[in-house]
Amino acid sequence: MECVFAVFGQITVMERQGRTMTEAVRDQDSVAAEMEQIAEEIRVCTKCDLCKMRTQAVPGDGPTDAALMFIGEAPGFHEDRQGHPFIGAAGKLLDDLLASIDMDRSQVFVTNVVKCRPPGNRDPLPDEVQTCTSNYLKRQVALLNPRMIVLLGRFSMEQFFPGEKISKIHGQPRQADGRMYFPMYHPAAALHQPRWLEDVKLDMLKIPALLEEAKRITPPEPDEPEPEQLSLF
Ligand code: URA
Repeated sequence: MECVFAVFGQITVMERQGRTMTEAVRDQDSVAAEMEQIAEEIRVCTKCDLCKMRTQAVPGDGPTDAALMFIGEAPGFHEDRQGHPFIGAAGKLLDDLLASIDMDRSQVFVTNVVKCRPPGNRDPLPDEVQTCTSNYLKRQVALLNPRMIVLLGRFSMEQFFPGEKISKIHGQPRQADGRMYFPMYHPAAALHQPRWLEDVKLDMLKIPALLEEAKRITPPEPDEPEPEQLSLF
């Protein structure tokens, strides 16, 4: 469906794909500029000790009008070297999973809970998670305002559904904040556990239909009280 919207006095033609008028009126150029501003802040961030050990921070990649966002845990060795998310073995699996639903990275925004590599790929510490999500991830989600967020792994899931178990809730969509959330096993974990790999592949296949459903969810008006607030917010 194609609609014509007046944006700050200009007429902008937008492919709506299920988004609401309120969202469509946002000026995509300013969204992209603000996302780059957040990325710049991340690249020079010294808010926690991970900055001392990183080669470079990894803000996240993808189009700033993406309807689908993936949130992983933290950069690994290759991501730390190159500054982009999911480019090692787990990233190759993510690419294959996207291909299984006829999608690729050009259509999705991919980032992590923590933007700098924890040494030796250890789990991020609670204060690292808290600092990084409150300063960056929360802003990225609010700015991108995706219709659907795929939570890759336990750390990502915990930011939105604390106290849950990924083994229990993977593959089960939940609606909150006017969007769809979809927890999955982390691709890196799936590479080590054949049973989880099967689950990841099956869960991924649910995404296209869920994304279409997510595009039909009516987002809350900006100042409307949320019926259900998730942990990150
Ligand atoms: N694992 C993650 O969680 N994120 C990456 O970017 C790479 C591996």
